[in-house]
Amino acid sequence: MLKRLLTHSAEETLELGHKIGERLGAGDCVLLFGGLGAGKTTFTQGLARGLGLPQEEYVRSPTFTLVNQYPGRIPIYHLDLYRLDTMDEMEQLGLEEVFSGDGVCIVEWAEKLMAPTCEDEFSPLFGIDSHLQIRLKIEGDDSRSVEITTVHLNPETHPIFSLQ
Ligand SMILES: Nc1ncnc2c1ncn2[C@@H]1O[C@H](COP(=O)(O)OP(=O)(O)OP(=O)(O)O)[C@@H](O)[C@H]1O
Ligand SMILES: [Mg+2]
Repeated sequence: MLKRLLTHSAEETLELGHKIGERLGAGDCVLLFGGLGAGKTTFTQGLARGLGLPQEEYVRSPTFTLVNQYPGRIPIYHLDLYRLDTMDEMEQLGLEEVFSGDGVCIVEWAEKLMAPTCEDEFSPLFGIDSHLQIRLKIEGDDSRSVEITTVHLNPETHPIFSLQ
């Protein structure tokens, strides 16, 4: 694990997302874990700002679509898998572009993407290799713990490791 932090307001979660978003580049993938109201969409809104989402644009949880695209300094793909029932559905979405590496992909409810590996661990499907895992948890009315784990990212080259 890289870091575990506590935020005390939605604003603080936005700011943390912003700092991380600034450190992301093409091909990065952020998997968000945590239950209802944990702060995944709030965190995503911060990430998107850090990725250069223009002020007039706003990230919403996709309700009827599972994936939305937003403009930033690179394309921002936002997936919310809450309503995903089967992996077939996911395959039908045609996510080649999302995983093509031209932008950043952010996945809410990433639990649904994880499959057991032979080493008794869990890895994401869809050929996702290096990525960031962010685990959000409700600790109180306004407090959320945010656990950041890097998977197969190079500490020598990836800007996320400069996070204070
Ligand atoms: N420290 C905090 N960080 C983030 N959100 C907070 C915090 N404190 C309170 N909140 C509130 O919690 C709610 C978080 O909702 P949000 O939609 O971001 O969660 P979510 O994990 O995306 O939920 P869902 O699974 O339903 O999509 C917001 O109403 C936000 O204002
Ligand atoms: Mg959400």
